[in-house]
Amino acid sequence: MYLKNKKILIGITASIAAYKIIVLIRLLVKAGAEVKVVMTPASKDFVSPLVLSTLSKNNVVIELANNNTWENHVILGRWADVFLIAPLSCNTLAKMVNGFCDNILMATYLSATCPVVVAPAMDEDMWHHATTQRNIATITKDGVQIIAVNNGELASGLTGKGRMAEPEEISTYLTEHFFRTKEFSQKNILITAGGTHEAIDPVRFIGNHSTGKMGFALAEEFYLRGANVTIIAGAVSVFTKYKGIKIINVTSADEMYAATIKAFSKTNIAVLSAAVADYKPTTVSKQKIKKKENNLSLQLIKNKDILATLGNTKKKNQLVIGFALETNNENENALNKLKSKKADAIVLNSLQEKGAGFKTDTNKISIYCKNGSIEHFDLKPKTEVAKDIVSFIANYK
Ligand code: CTP
Repeated sequence: MYLKNKKILIGITASIAAYKIIVLIRLLVKAGAEVKVVMTPASKDFVSPLVLSTLSKNNVVIELANNNTWENHVILGRWADVFLIAPLSCNTLAKMVNGFCDNILMATYLSATCPVVVAPAMDEDMWHHATTQRNIATITKDGVQIIAVNNGELASGLTGKGRMAEPEEISTYLTEHFFRTKEFSQKNILITAGGTHEAIDPVRFIGNHSTGKMGFALAEEFYLRGANVTIIAGAVSVFTKYKGIKIINVTSADEMYAATIKAFSKTNIAVLSAAVADYKPTTVSKQKIKKKENNLSLQLIKNKDILATLGNTKKKNQLVIGFALETNNENENALNKLKSKKADAIVLNSLQEKGAGFKTDTNKISIYCKNGSIEHFDLKPKTEVAKDIVSFIANYK
């Protein structure tokens, strides 16, 4: 969605990693982007222009002139929203530093008015060479963005630093750095996600089945709509590919409470999707509890309620949204939570709905708003549910 109709110009230079650009173009085109390719003549030995033009659905530009006709590199750089040079070879890097204009890719670079980003690819020793590092520093100063090289298997057979970022990583970088919208820019969003673990002894805990999927999907949606996002993450089985999302890892409900309260004063919108344990053992055994009697009783004590604390302390310009996961009396319980925790809205999901709740990739929600409105949504993937919730919040009055 965020790449739809975005214009991406890819410049390919002579490097073994050029084969990965085939996959990258497929990813970008599938996501709705328009892709054009310009390549150095030497890079034709590494990837076929026919494949590139077929996948990008555009002619590939290789020479400065074609059949006595001048290729308009100036327009290419103006057409693009971003010019990605990937893979970036040592040779083209050196040309960028010195402003050489001996091929169409360099002519395009020197006339590009759009942002330029490069994904270097070279062997480890070349990458670490003082000249390369000096050249990278120079183009960075010139305003070019660098997609970090990976550590891994290299064309030489050695393993080390210098491998070009993977197509998925490059696509994520482009989305994150160039195509986030501004809907929530300047807004600080705080999300709690995952389950908490309440220690019984050094090896055991009380926990739940939460995976953090819904919270992470919400965080990514807010982030792609321009927000500064912090996740207070308990036990989760998911991760985010977006480097700009801040994650604070916690284990217990007490830790989640402390981290959330600390971050709340600078928060505009808090969405509490975590499955916080309601109770914790009154005492935590210092040693592993040994198996003895047939029965074992644990005494539990109530945890502090994070949502209720935020609901009671929030300022007028702060919005606090909670979740309610119910197995019965859904409507009544959601309304009770809305009122008792002083939330601005409660997102209800019921375990009675097939495909909703923990572990699934889908969810079916209803949003109960403080103003009395109730909105019901269909069963959808959690990424789509996140869009519905974020849109609801964007329109919240
Ligand atoms: N919540 C919280 N702190 C707690 C318990 C819950 O912030 N100690 C938040 C959850 O993140 C969620 C909302 O409160 O946004 C409702 O959580 P839920 O577990 O459904 O409700 P409880 O208040 O725990 O009530 P019950 O378990 O009795 O349904």
